[in-house]
Amino acid sequence: MKDIGLEKYIPIETFTELPRSNNNTARKLYVETYGCQMNFADTEIVNGIMGKNGYDVSENIDDSAIILLNTCSIRENAEYRIYQRLNELKKLKKQNPKLIVGIIGCMAERLKRGLMTKKSVVDLVLGPDEYRKLPSLIDNLVDNGEKGIAVRLSRVETYDDIIPIRKEGVSAWLSVMRGCDKFCTYCVVPYTRGRERSREMEGVAKEVKKLWDEGFRDVTLLGQNVNSYSSGSNDFADLLKACSLAAPEMRIRFTTSHPHDLSLKLIETIAEYDNLCNYIHLPVQSGSNRILDLMKREYTIEHYLSIMNDIKRIIPDVSLSTDIITGFCTETEEDHKMTLDLMKEVKYDGAYMFKYSPREKTKAWDMGDDVDEETKTRRLVDIVELQRDISEEKNKETLGKIYDVVIEGVSKKSDKMLFGRTDGNKTVIVPMNGSLTGQKVKVKINRANSATLFGEVIHSNQL
Ligand code: 5AD
Ligand code: SF4
Repeated sequence: MKDIGLEKYIPIETFTELPRSNNNTARKLYVETYGCQMNFADTEIVNGIMGKNGYDVSENIDDSAIILLNTCSIRENAEYRIYQRLNELKKLKKQNPKLIVGIIGCMAERLKRGLMTKKSVVDLVLGPDEYRKLPSLIDNLVDNGEKGIAVRLSRVETYDDIIPIRKEGVSAWLSVMRGCDKFCTYCVVPYTRGRERSREMEGVAKEVKKLWDEGFRDVTLLGQNVNSYSSGSNDFADLLKACSLAAPEMRIRFTTSHPHDLSLKLIETIAEYDNLCNYIHLPVQSGSNRILDLMKREYTIEHYLSIMNDIKRIIPDVSLSTDIITGFCTETEEDHKMTLDLMKEVKYDGAYMFKYSPREKTKAWDMGDDVDEETKTRRLVDIVELQRDISEEKNKETLGKIYDVVIEGVSKKSDKMLFGRTDGNKTVIVPMNGSLTGQKVKVKINRANSATLFGEVIHSNQL
Protein backbone atom coordinates (compact mmCIF):
# COMPACT_ATOMS: atom_id res chain seq x y z
CA MET A 1 0.00 0.00 0.00
CA LYS A 2 1.83 3.00 -1.23
CA ASP A 3 0.79 6.51 -2.09
CA ILE A 4 1.99 7.00 -5.61
CA GLY A 5 3.48 10.47 -5.96
CA LEU A 6 2.96 12.64 -9.02
CA GLU A 7 6.44 11.96 -10.32
CA LYS A 8 5.69 8.24 -10.55
CA TYR A 9 2.88 8.20 -12.98
CA ILE A 10 2.58 8.13 -16.64
CA PRO A 11 1.05 11.29 -18.07
CA ILE A 12 -2.54 10.78 -19.13
CA GLU A 13 -1.73 11.83 -22.71
CA THR A 14 0.34 8.65 -23.10
CA PHE A 15 -2.86 6.66 -23.02
CA THR A 16 -4.87 8.61 -25.53
CA GLU A 17 -3.92 6.30 -28.40
CA LEU A 18 -5.60 3.35 -26.68
CA PRO A 19 -8.94 2.27 -28.16
CA ARG A 20 -11.83 4.25 -26.70
CA SER A 21 -14.10 1.26 -26.61
CA ASN A 22 -13.66 -2.49 -26.47
CA ASN A 23 -15.48 -5.58 -25.34
CA ASN A 24 -12.74 -6.71 -23.03
CA THR A 25 -14.26 -7.29 -19.58
CA ALA A 26 -10.88 -6.43 -18.00
CA ARG A 27 -11.35 -2.85 -19.25
CA LYS A 28 -14.94 -2.48 -18.06
CA LEU A 29 -15.74 0.00 -15.35
CA TYR A 30 -18.85 0.41 -13.27
CA VAL A 31 -19.30 3.46 -11.04
CA GLU A 32 -22.05 3.59 -8.44
CA THR A 33 -22.85 7.11 -7.26
CA TYR A 34 -24.14 8.19 -3.85
CA GLY A 35 -24.87 11.63 -2.42
CA CYS A 36 -25.25 15.05 -4.01
CA GLN A 37 -25.46 16.20 -7.66
CA MET A 38 -21.79 17.15 -7.47
CA ASN A 39 -20.97 13.46 -7.07
CA PHE A 40 -23.09 12.57 -10.09
CA ALA A 41 -21.20 15.20 -12.12
CA ASP A 42 -17.89 13.85 -10.76
CA THR A 43 -18.81 10.32 -11.84
CA GLU A 44 -19.23 11.66 -15.38
CA ILE A 45 -15.74 13.19 -15.08
CA VAL A 46 -14.30 9.89 -13.80
CA ASN A 47 -15.96 8.11 -16.72
CA GLY A 48 -14.45 10.74 -19.04
CA ILE A 49 -10.95 10.15 -17.64
CA MET A 50 -11.33 6.38 -17.83
CA GLY A 51 -12.91 6.47 -21.31
CA LYS A 52 -9.95 8.49 -22.56
CA ASN A 53 -7.69 5.80 -21.19
CA GLY A 54 -9.30 2.92 -23.05
CA TYR A 55 -11.82 1.76 -20.45
CA ASP A 56 -15.44 1.06 -21.27
CA VAL A 57 -18.08 2.52 -19.01
CA SER A 58 -20.56 -0.24 -18.22
CA GLU A 59 -24.12 -0.12 -16.92
CA ASN A 60 -23.80 -3.70 -15.78
CA ILE A 61 -21.99 -4.47 -12.53
CA ASP A 62 -21.73 -8.20 -13.33
CA ASP A 63 -19.51 -7.88 -16.37
CA SER A 64 -17.22 -5.19 -14.93
CA ALA A 65 -13.66 -5.70 -13.76
CA ILE A 66 -13.58 -2.47 -11.79
CA ILE A 67 -16.28 -1.29 -9.41
CA LEU A 68 -16.01 2.19 -7.93
CA LEU A 69 -18.30 3.63 -5.27
CA ASN A 70 -18.45 7.43 -5.47
CA THR A 71 -19.27 8.22 -1.87
CA CYS A 72 -20.78 10.84 0.42
CA SER A 73 -19.80 11.71 4.00
CA ILE A 74 -22.29 14.42 4.80
CA ARG A 75 -24.19 12.40 7.42
CA GLU A 76 -23.33 9.21 9.27
CA ASN A 77 -26.02 7.15 7.55
CA ALA A 78 -24.55 8.04 4.12
CA GLU A 79 -21.33 6.29 5.17
CA TYR A 80 -23.22 3.43 6.77
CA ARG A 81 -24.81 2.62 3.40
CA ILE A 82 -21.35 2.33 1.84
CA TYR A 83 -20.15 -0.11 4.49
CA GLN A 84 -23.23 -2.22 3.79
CA ARG A 85 -22.52 -2.07 0.06
CA LEU A 86 -18.90 -3.10 0.65
CA ASN A 87 -20.15 -6.15 2.52
CA GLU A 88 -22.22 -7.12 -0.49
CA LEU A 89 -19.25 -6.58 -2.80
CA LYS A 90 -17.24 -8.99 -0.65
CA LYS A 91 -19.35 -11.81 -2.08
CA LEU A 92 -18.61 -10.69 -5.64
CA LYS A 93 -14.92 -10.53 -4.87
CA LYS A 94 -14.98 -14.06 -3.46
CA GLN A 95 -16.39 -15.29 -6.77
CA ASN A 96 -13.89 -13.20 -8.72
CA PRO A 97 -10.71 -12.41 -6.75
CA LYS A 98 -9.41 -10.25 -9.61
CA LEU A 99 -12.29 -7.82 -9.19
CA ILE A 100 -11.02 -4.31 -8.38
CA VAL A 101 -13.03 -2.33 -5.83
CA GLY A 102 -12.43 1.37 -5.24
CA ILE A 103 -13.82 3.99 -2.92
CA ILE A 104 -13.74 7.46 -4.41
CA GLY A 105 -15.20 10.83 -3.32
CA CYS A 106 -15.81 12.34 0.09
CA MET A 107 -15.58 9.18 2.20
CA ALA A 108 -12.22 8.35 0.59
CA GLU A 109 -10.98 11.82 1.50
CA ARG A 110 -12.29 11.63 5.06
CA LEU A 111 -11.22 8.13 6.02
CA LYS A 112 -8.18 7.69 3.77
CA ARG A 113 -6.11 4.60 4.65
CA GLY A 114 -8.70 3.70 7.27
CA LEU A 115 -10.75 2.19 4.43
CA MET A 116 -7.96 -0.27 3.62
CA THR A 117 -7.94 -2.49 6.66
CA LYS A 118 -6.58 -6.02 6.24
CA LYS A 119 -10.01 -7.57 5.90
CA SER A 120 -11.30 -4.81 3.66
CA VAL A 121 -12.35 -5.51 0.12
CA VAL A 122 -11.12 -2.06 -0.95
CA ASP A 123 -8.17 -1.87 -3.42
CA LEU A 124 -8.26 1.81 -4.30
CA VAL A 125 -8.98 4.99 -2.34
CA LEU A 126 -9.16 8.28 -4.26
CA GLY A 127 -10.26 11.68 -3.01
CA PRO A 128 -12.26 14.12 -5.17
CA ASP A 129 -9.20 15.99 -6.49
CA GLU A 130 -7.24 12.87 -7.47
CA TYR A 131 -9.31 11.29 -10.23
CA ARG A 132 -6.63 11.82 -12.87
CA LYS A 133 -4.57 9.21 -11.02
CA LEU A 134 -7.12 6.43 -11.44
CA PRO A 135 -5.64 4.84 -14.60
CA SER A 136 -2.10 4.74 -13.24
CA LEU A 137 -3.18 3.40 -9.84
CA ILE A 138 -5.16 0.66 -11.56
CA ASP A 139 -2.15 -0.24 -13.74
CA ASN A 140 0.05 -0.38 -10.67
CA LEU A 141 -2.47 -2.59 -8.89
CA VAL A 142 -2.73 -4.98 -11.84
CA ASP A 143 1.03 -5.06 -12.54
CA ASN A 144 2.43 -5.04 -9.01
CA GLY A 145 -0.48 -6.02 -6.81
CA GLU A 146 -0.12 -2.77 -4.86
CA LYS A 147 -3.24 -1.19 -3.47
CA GLY A 148 -3.49 2.51 -4.39
CA ILE A 149 -4.30 5.59 -2.38
CA ALA A 150 -4.37 9.23 -3.49
CA VAL A 151 -6.08 11.74 -1.23
CA ARG A 152 -4.31 15.05 -1.68
CA LEU A 153 -6.63 18.04 -2.00
CA SER A 154 -5.79 20.59 -4.66
CA ARG A 155 -6.15 24.36 -4.78
CA VAL A 156 -6.41 24.38 -8.58
CA GLU A 157 -7.97 21.16 -9.88
CA THR A 158 -11.23 21.84 -11.74
CA TYR A 159 -11.08 19.05 -14.39
CA ASP A 160 -11.61 21.87 -16.86
CA ASP A 161 -10.10 19.91 -19.77
CA ILE A 162 -11.87 16.62 -19.09
CA ILE A 163 -14.83 15.82 -21.32
CA PRO A 164 -17.40 14.13 -19.06
CA ILE A 165 -19.19 11.05 -20.36
CA ARG A 166 -22.86 11.84 -19.83
CA LYS A 167 -25.85 9.61 -20.29
CA GLU A 168 -27.93 10.79 -23.22
CA GLY A 169 -30.86 12.80 -22.03
CA VAL A 170 -32.49 16.16 -21.69
CA SER A 171 -30.89 17.53 -18.53
CA ALA A 172 -27.19 17.76 -17.77
CA TRP A 173 -25.00 18.60 -14.76
CA LEU A 174 -22.10 20.96 -15.24
CA SER A 175 -19.73 21.63 -12.38
CA VAL A 176 -18.38 25.21 -12.46
CA MET A 177 -16.60 25.46 -9.12
CA ARG A 178 -15.35 23.02 -6.49
CA GLY A 179 -14.75 23.15 -2.77
CA CYS A 180 -16.11 25.31 0.03
CA ASP A 181 -14.45 27.93 2.23
CA LYS A 182 -17.43 28.58 4.49
CA PHE A 183 -16.71 26.07 7.26
CA CYS A 184 -20.22 25.93 8.68
CA THR A 185 -19.62 24.28 12.03
CA TYR A 186 -21.64 21.10 11.30
CA CYS A 187 -20.29 20.43 7.83
CA VAL A 188 -17.59 18.06 6.68
CA VAL A 189 -17.50 19.34 3.07
CA PRO A 190 -14.65 21.88 3.48
CA TYR A 191 -12.52 18.98 4.76
CA THR A 192 -13.50 16.45 2.09
CA ARG A 193 -13.67 18.81 -0.88
CA GLY A 194 -11.03 21.38 -0.02
CA ARG A 195 -10.77 25.03 -0.95
CA GLU A 196 -12.93 26.92 -3.44
CA ARG A 197 -11.74 27.18 -7.04
CA SER A 198 -13.63 28.07 -10.20
CA ARG A 199 -13.45 27.15 -13.86
CA GLU A 200 -12.90 29.88 -16.45
CA MET A 201 -16.07 31.59 -17.61
CA GLU A 202 -15.49 31.20 -21.37
CA GLY A 203 -14.92 27.43 -21.02
CA VAL A 204 -18.15 26.97 -19.06
CA ALA A 205 -20.20 29.07 -21.52
CA LYS A 206 -18.76 27.08 -24.44
CA GLU A 207 -19.68 23.83 -22.72
CA VAL A 208 -23.27 25.02 -22.24
CA LYS A 209 -23.49 25.74 -25.99
CA LYS A 210 -21.96 22.33 -26.75
CA LEU A 211 -24.52 20.64 -24.51
CA TRP A 212 -27.30 22.42 -26.40
CA ASP A 213 -25.86 21.21 -29.73
CA GLU A 214 -25.75 17.67 -28.32
CA GLY A 215 -29.47 17.79 -27.54
CA PHE A 216 -29.54 18.73 -23.85
CA ARG A 217 -32.28 21.23 -23.02
CA ASP A 218 -31.75 21.87 -19.32
CA VAL A 219 -28.42 22.34 -17.55
CA THR A 220 -27.71 22.75 -13.84
CA LEU A 221 -24.51 24.63 -12.97
CA LEU A 222 -23.03 23.00 -9.89
CA GLY A 223 -20.79 23.99 -7.03
CA GLN A 224 -20.72 23.35 -3.29
CA ASN A 225 -21.09 27.07 -2.95
CA VAL A 226 -21.88 28.02 -6.50
CA ASN A 227 -22.64 31.69 -6.01
CA SER A 228 -19.17 32.37 -4.64
CA TYR A 229 -17.94 31.51 -8.17
CA SER A 230 -15.12 33.82 -9.14
CA SER A 231 -12.94 33.82 -12.24
CA GLY A 232 -10.80 36.88 -12.99
CA SER A 233 -13.14 39.83 -12.56
CA ASN A 234 -16.24 37.71 -13.25
CA ASP A 235 -18.68 36.70 -10.55
CA PHE A 236 -21.51 34.17 -10.65
CA ALA A 237 -24.00 36.64 -12.15
CA ASP A 238 -21.53 37.27 -15.01
CA LEU A 239 -21.19 33.53 -15.53
CA LEU A 240 -24.97 33.06 -15.67
CA LYS A 241 -25.28 35.87 -18.20
CA ALA A 242 -22.49 34.41 -20.38
CA CYS A 243 -24.15 30.97 -20.30
CA SER A 244 -27.55 32.46 -21.05
CA LEU A 245 -26.18 34.27 -24.12
CA ALA A 246 -24.19 31.22 -25.28
CA ALA A 247 -27.36 29.10 -25.52
CA PRO A 248 -30.41 31.36 -25.34
CA GLU A 249 -32.93 28.49 -25.52
CA MET A 250 -31.22 26.30 -22.92
CA ARG A 251 -32.87 26.24 -19.50
CA ILE A 252 -30.19 27.10 -16.98
CA ARG A 253 -30.40 26.31 -13.26
CA PHE A 254 -27.82 26.28 -10.48
CA THR A 255 -27.24 24.80 -7.07
CA THR A 256 -26.32 25.21 -4.26
CA SER A 257 -26.18 28.76 -2.95
CA HIS A 258 -25.20 30.38 0.32
CA PRO A 259 -27.32 33.36 1.50
CA HIS A 260 -24.16 35.31 2.34
CA ASP A 261 -23.09 35.44 -1.34
CA LEU A 262 -26.48 35.90 -2.99
CA SER A 263 -26.20 39.37 -4.51
CA LEU A 264 -28.85 41.73 -5.83
CA LYS A 265 -26.97 41.64 -9.14
CA LEU A 266 -27.52 37.87 -9.29
CA ILE A 267 -31.26 38.21 -8.60
CA GLU A 268 -31.55 40.93 -11.27
CA THR A 269 -29.64 38.84 -13.80
CA ILE A 270 -32.01 35.90 -13.27
CA ALA A 271 -34.97 38.23 -13.79
CA GLU A 272 -33.45 39.75 -16.93
CA TYR A 273 -32.66 36.61 -18.92
CA ASP A 274 -35.58 34.41 -19.88
CA ASN A 275 -33.68 31.13 -19.98
CA LEU A 276 -32.27 31.54 -16.46
CA CYS A 277 -34.83 29.53 -14.51
CA ASN A 278 -37.00 31.25 -11.94
CA TYR A 279 -35.93 28.85 -9.26
CA ILE A 280 -33.60 29.43 -6.31
CA HIS A 281 -32.46 26.87 -3.77
CA LEU A 282 -31.26 28.81 -0.74
CA PRO A 283 -30.46 26.71 2.32
CA VAL A 284 -31.51 28.42 5.55
CA GLN A 285 -30.66 25.51 7.94
CA SER A 286 -32.55 26.99 10.93
CA GLY A 287 -35.07 29.68 11.80
CA SER A 288 -33.26 30.67 15.00
CA ASN A 289 -30.55 33.35 15.04
CA ARG A 290 -28.94 31.71 18.07
CA ILE A 291 -28.61 28.40 16.18
CA LEU A 292 -27.46 30.15 12.98
CA ASP A 293 -24.72 31.79 15.02
CA LEU A 294 -23.64 28.43 16.47
CA MET A 295 -23.66 27.03 12.94
CA LYS A 296 -21.49 29.98 11.79
CA ARG A 297 -23.84 30.68 8.91
CA GLU A 298 -22.91 34.39 8.81
CA TYR A 299 -26.44 35.78 8.39
CA THR A 300 -29.44 36.48 10.55
CA ILE A 301 -33.01 35.45 9.81
CA GLU A 302 -33.83 39.11 9.24
CA HIS A 303 -31.15 39.31 6.54
CA TYR A 304 -32.26 36.01 5.02
CA LEU A 305 -35.87 37.23 4.87
CA SER A 306 -34.81 40.48 3.23
CA ILE A 307 -33.05 38.45 0.48
CA MET A 308 -36.19 36.33 0.09
CA ASN A 309 -38.33 39.44 -0.24
CA ASP A 310 -35.95 40.88 -2.87
CA ILE A 311 -36.14 37.60 -4.79
CA LYS A 312 -39.95 37.50 -4.67
CA ARG A 313 -40.19 41.16 -5.68
CA ILE A 314 -37.69 41.04 -8.54
CA ILE A 315 -38.48 37.56 -9.96
CA PRO A 316 -42.26 37.15 -10.21
CA ASP A 317 -43.49 33.53 -10.09
CA VAL A 318 -40.20 32.38 -8.55
CA SER A 319 -39.98 28.92 -6.94
CA LEU A 320 -37.99 28.61 -3.75
CA SER A 321 -36.52 25.68 -1.90
CA THR A 322 -34.24 25.22 1.08
CA ASP A 323 -32.29 22.84 3.34
CA ILE A 324 -33.09 22.54 7.04
CA ILE A 325 -31.23 20.72 9.79
CA THR A 326 -33.21 19.75 12.84
CA GLY A 327 -31.82 18.90 16.28
CA PHE A 328 -28.53 20.81 16.03
CA CYS A 329 -26.61 21.09 19.34
CA THR A 330 -28.58 22.92 22.03
CA GLU A 331 -31.66 23.37 19.79
CA THR A 332 -34.67 24.04 22.05
CA GLU A 333 -38.40 23.78 21.38
CA GLU A 334 -38.36 27.55 20.98
CA ASP A 335 -35.64 27.39 18.30
CA HIS A 336 -37.59 24.62 16.58
CA LYS A 337 -40.73 26.74 16.61
CA MET A 338 -38.78 29.58 14.99
CA THR A 339 -37.89 27.22 12.13
CA LEU A 340 -41.57 26.29 11.71
CA ASP A 341 -42.51 30.01 11.75
CA LEU A 342 -39.89 30.80 9.13
CA MET A 343 -41.21 28.03 6.88
CA LYS A 344 -44.74 29.43 7.23
CA GLU A 345 -43.51 32.91 6.39
CA VAL A 346 -41.37 32.06 3.33
CA LYS A 347 -43.68 29.31 2.03
CA TYR A 348 -41.03 27.30 0.22
CA ASP A 349 -42.11 25.25 -2.77
CA GLY A 350 -39.90 22.44 -1.50
CA ALA A 351 -37.36 21.59 1.21
CA TYR A 352 -34.67 19.01 1.96
CA MET A 353 -34.80 18.24 5.66
CA PHE A 354 -32.28 16.37 7.79
CA LYS A 355 -31.61 15.31 11.36
CA TYR A 356 -28.33 16.72 12.62
CA SER A 357 -25.53 14.19 12.35
CA PRO A 358 -22.29 15.04 14.19
CA ARG A 359 -19.20 14.78 11.99
CA GLU A 360 -15.70 14.30 13.34
CA LYS A 361 -13.23 17.17 12.74
CA THR A 362 -15.98 19.80 12.48
CA LYS A 363 -16.32 22.55 15.10
CA ALA A 364 -19.77 21.31 16.11
CA TRP A 365 -18.33 17.88 16.93
CA ASP A 366 -16.85 19.46 20.07
CA MET A 367 -20.15 21.15 20.95
CA GLY A 368 -21.69 17.76 21.67
CA ASP A 369 -24.88 16.22 20.36
CA ASP A 370 -27.31 16.92 23.15
CA VAL A 371 -30.67 16.67 21.38
CA ASP A 372 -31.82 13.08 21.82
CA GLU A 373 -32.72 10.93 18.83
CA GLU A 374 -36.42 10.80 19.70
CA THR A 375 -36.66 14.60 19.83
CA LYS A 376 -34.73 14.98 16.57
CA THR A 377 -37.10 12.54 14.89
CA ARG A 378 -40.20 14.27 16.22
CA ARG A 379 -38.96 17.68 15.11
CA LEU A 380 -38.07 16.28 11.69
CA VAL A 381 -41.60 14.86 11.35
CA ASP A 382 -42.98 18.29 12.35
CA ILE A 383 -41.11 20.12 9.61
CA VAL A 384 -41.68 17.43 6.98
CA GLU A 385 -45.43 17.50 7.61
CA LEU A 386 -45.58 21.28 7.59
CA GLN A 387 -43.61 21.43 4.35
CA ARG A 388 -45.89 18.83 2.76
CA ASP A 389 -48.91 21.04 3.49
CA ILE A 390 -47.15 24.16 2.19
CA SER A 391 -45.96 22.37 -0.98
CA GLU A 392 -49.47 21.12 -1.61
CA GLU A 393 -50.91 24.60 -1.12
CA LYS A 394 -48.30 26.12 -3.47
CA ASN A 395 -48.82 23.41 -6.08
CA LYS A 396 -52.60 23.88 -5.97
CA GLU A 397 -52.04 27.53 -6.94
CA THR A 398 -50.99 26.22 -10.38
CA LEU A 399 -54.40 24.62 -11.10
CA GLY A 400 -55.90 25.83 -14.37
CA LYS A 401 -52.73 27.72 -15.31
CA ILE A 402 -50.57 27.03 -18.37
CA TYR A 403 -46.81 26.41 -18.05
CA ASP A 404 -43.92 25.80 -20.43
CA VAL A 405 -42.75 22.28 -19.65
CA VAL A 406 -39.62 20.62 -21.03
CA ILE A 407 -40.45 16.93 -21.44
CA GLU A 408 -37.66 14.72 -20.09
CA GLY A 409 -38.94 11.21 -20.81
CA VAL A 410 -41.34 8.45 -19.85
CA SER A 411 -42.69 8.59 -16.30
CA LYS A 412 -41.14 6.06 -13.92
CA LYS A 413 -44.59 5.17 -12.59
CA SER A 414 -46.40 4.57 -15.90
CA ASP A 415 -45.21 3.96 -19.44
CA LYS A 416 -48.36 5.69 -20.68
CA MET A 417 -47.26 9.00 -19.16
CA LEU A 418 -44.43 11.46 -19.76
CA PHE A 419 -42.70 13.62 -17.21
CA GLY A 420 -41.09 17.02 -17.48
CA ARG A 421 -40.31 20.11 -15.44
CA THR A 422 -41.52 23.68 -15.30
CA ASP A 423 -39.11 26.58 -15.26
CA GLY A 424 -39.69 26.62 -11.47
CA ASN A 425 -38.44 23.01 -11.16
CA LYS A 426 -41.84 21.42 -10.52
CA THR A 427 -42.33 17.93 -11.90
CA VAL A 428 -45.28 17.64 -14.30
CA ILE A 429 -46.90 14.44 -15.58
CA VAL A 430 -48.80 14.44 -18.89
CA PRO A 431 -50.38 11.63 -20.92
CA MET A 432 -48.09 10.11 -23.55
CA ASN A 433 -48.70 12.02 -26.74
CA GLY A 434 -46.22 10.98 -29.42
CA SER A 435 -42.53 11.51 -28.96
CA LEU A 436 -42.23 14.79 -27.08
CA THR A 437 -38.99 14.09 -25.20
CA GLY A 438 -36.70 17.11 -25.35
CA GLN A 439 -39.47 19.43 -26.50
CA LYS A 440 -40.82 22.45 -24.68
CA VAL A 441 -44.63 22.24 -24.65
CA LYS A 442 -47.48 24.24 -23.10
CA VAL A 443 -49.21 22.28 -20.35
CA LYS A 444 -52.44 23.13 -18.57
CA ILE A 445 -52.42 21.87 -14.98
CA ASN A 446 -55.52 19.90 -13.96
CA ARG A 447 -54.46 18.26 -10.71
CA ALA A 448 -51.73 18.72 -8.09
CA ASN A 449 -50.48 17.12 -4.91
CA SER A 450 -47.56 18.07 -2.65
CA ALA A 451 -44.96 16.48 -4.95
CA THR A 452 -46.28 16.56 -8.51
CA LEU A 453 -48.43 18.48 -11.00
CA PHE A 454 -50.63 16.64 -13.52
CA GLY A 455 -51.77 18.23 -16.77
CA GLU A 456 -52.47 18.05 -20.48
CA VAL A 457 -50.49 19.33 -23.42
CA ILE A 458 -52.22 22.32 -25.00
CA HIS A 459 -51.77 22.83 -28.70
CA SER A 460 -51.26 26.29 -30.13
CA ASN A 461 -54.80 26.43 -31.54
CA GLN A 462 -56.21 25.93 -28.01
CA LEU A 463 -54.33 28.88 -26.56
N1 5AD B 1 -25.97 16.83 9.63
C1 5AD B 1 -27.15 16.98 8.99
N2 5AD B 1 -27.29 17.63 7.83
C2 5AD B 1 -26.17 18.19 7.31
N3 5AD B 1 -25.98 18.91 6.18
C3 5AD B 1 -24.69 19.22 6.08
N4 5AD B 1 -24.01 18.71 7.13
C4 5AD B 1 -24.92 18.07 7.90
C5 5AD B 1 -24.83 17.36 9.13
N5 5AD B 1 -23.67 17.21 9.77
C6 5AD B 1 -27.09 19.31 5.29
C7 5AD B 1 -27.22 20.82 5.16
C8 5AD B 1 -26.69 21.08 3.78
C9 5AD B 1 -27.10 19.83 3.05
C10 5AD B 1 -26.37 19.57 1.79
O1 5AD B 1 -26.84 18.81 3.99
O2 5AD B 1 -28.59 21.15 5.24
O3 5AD B 1 -27.23 22.25 3.19
FE1 SF4 C 1 -21.13 22.76 4.05
FE2 SF4 C 1 -21.70 25.29 4.73
FE3 SF4 C 1 -19.98 24.78 2.70
FE4 SF4 C 1 -22.59 24.28 2.38
S1 SF4 C 1 -21.67 26.31 2.74
S2 SF4 C 1 -20.88 22.90 1.81
S3 SF4 C 1 -23.21 23.60 4.43
S4 SF4 C 1 -19.67 24.28 4.87
